[in-house]
Amino acid sequence: MKAVRIHAFGGPEVLRLEDVARPEPAADELLIQVVASGVNPVDWVVREGGNDALRAYLRLPMTLGWDAAGVVVAMGSAVTGFEIGDAVYGEPNFPGDGSYAEYCAAKASQFAHKPASLSFLEAAGVPLAGLTAWTALFEHGRLQLGQRVLIQGASGGVGSFAVQFAKAKGAYVIGTASAGNLDYLRQLGADEVLDYRSPQVEEMVRDVDVVLEASPVRDNVARVKALTALKAGGIFVSVNTDFPFDEAVQAALAQQHVTGVLSANQPRQAWLQEIAQLIDAGQVKVFISQVFPLAQVADAHRESQTWHVRGKLILQVHADDDLA
Ligand SMILES: NC(=O)c1ccc[n+]([C@@H]2O[C@H](COP(=O)([O-])OP(=O)(O)OC[C@H]3O[C@@H](n4cnc5c(N)ncnc54)[C@H](OP(=O)(O)O)[C@@H]3O)[C@@H](O)[C@H]2O)c1
Repeated sequence: MKAVRIHAFGGPEVLRLEDVARPEPAADELLIQVVASGVNPVDWVVREGGNDALRAYLRLPMTLGWDAAGVVVAMGSAVTGFEIGDAVYGEPNFPGDGSYAEYCAAKASQFAHKPASLSFLEAAGVPLAGLTAWTALFEHGRLQLGQRVLIQGASGGVGSFAVQFAKAKGAYVIGTASAGNLDYLRQLGADEVLDYRSPQVEEMVRDVDVVLEASPVRDNVARVKALTALKAGGIFVSVNTDFPFDEAVQAALAQQHVTGVLSANQPRQAWLQEIAQLIDAGQVKVFISQVFPLAQVADAHRESQTWHVRGKLILQVHADDDLA
């Protein structure tokens, strides 16, 4: 089968489309014929050699990509809940061999049935970013109906889902993005939108229950300013797990009687199922920025590395009508 692998860490030039053996599913795994793979910033972070949190887990050569939509073509003896031919989506094997491949074997628990209302291309953009938003808002942020949330970086892959999930759960959502994306945030359902380049943007928001740092900015001075938006007892959740809170942030958290959490996404099947229900109920939409053929993966990485993608980048691996 064809797969995009790396044999060395580096720039987009280390990505190689090559022939490799098709994987065999273990007892608890599905073998998926991949129709499409999402592209996420972590793909090129791993391509470049990872960060402090990831480096120890990376093995070469490796197949990148941890966002898949496709069809079940085989499964291990212990798998229940899926049939051959099922359309599925999931976050396979992070940070091992992933979804930039014609076939991918991964634990069945990392997949759920694809939302029926989505194409495979759309579905491939959901799992990693969606689960990141879900874990941060609900597992760590404990966001509730009627609460107020500030979402920084609301126009990106994670932020776009976070705005919609928070609205679907009945929260009041304030989102930040660049000026050109403010209408997009309103389209996602944000109640208030702010240009992150406006002066004193932090002072424009008060009394929120949760701040979600879903922007790519890694800056502890900016975090201290953002904490002023929280009410006492509030929660600051950052998805930038590779960038710890420094002493100034720790002191500000204590002084303001708020909590800070670094949130890594969890690939839970139950959450993928709940997300699929919200999508099929029309409460959450998937916004695709661009689709690339698998062979143009390097261009997709270059685009992701701009940090100004609106919605999701997708790699098409198979045509929908080209399935086994
Ligand atoms: N913990 C986890 O499990 C996990 C998983 C996935 C991602 N992440 C992290 O989450 C962050 C977002 O990832 P993503 O996939 O959503 O990225 P993405 O799709 O590339 O989105 C980037 C977004 O960041 C916004 N942005 C750029 N500069 C900004 C700034 N100075 N201030 C505020 N927003 C800014 C951009 O908005 P404009 O175009 O409007 O400027 C863009 O919409 C990244 O730091 C990534 O590493 C963590």
